[in-house]
Amino acid sequence: MALLKIARMGHPVLRARAAEIEDPKAPWLRQLVEDMVETMEDAGGTGIAAPQVHAPYRIVVFQVHGERITDLPGDSEQELTVLINPIIEPVGSERAYGWEGCLSVPGLRGVVPRHLRVRYHGVDLDGNPIDREVAGFHARVVQHECDHLDGILYPQRMTNHRLLVFTEELQRYPIDVAAVLAEGDRE
Ligand code: NI
Repeated sequence: MALLKIARMGHPVLRARAAEIEDPKAPWLRQLVEDMVETMEDAGGTGIAAPQVHAPYRIVVFQVHGERITDLPGDSEQELTVLINPIIEPVGSERAYGWEGCLSVPGLRGVVPRHLRVRYHGVDLDGNPIDREVAGFHARVVQHECDHLDGILYPQRMTNHRLLVFTEELQRYPIDVAAVLAEGDRE
């Protein structure tokens, strides 16, 4: 077990498309995932994608805690999930805005539009299939983590950059998100 260095926004590994995993049961992969989990927990993250620890492969790990979920059907708590070669499909066309942070963009938070409902599938470390349909915060976490595999960070998904703020300032000065969204972005 080891804590891994987390790549920060600007490092090219975070802009590249990550490679498919050919053998999900490979011992090196199990070791990488153990280290990713330890690194995520140490940093207080909800999820982490392999490129964030300089490993350019299509693997994400995440968990969904009860305090962040909404009352939408499908927005469920989720124990630690290791998802290899994930594919996400939107379910319906509804979108929702919500706050996100990222271990690769330390100290900041932003309001990001995401699909409200998605279906995701992939395999776990034993090669067993994972296939879930989820909503709300659970869907948001998966979309955020899987974006990392395509070289996308959440600020690139934002539509109103007045809602990109330092976490400390947000705690001091709460933002009326609906009001700022209604005003629109500024050139
Ligand atoms: Ni992230």
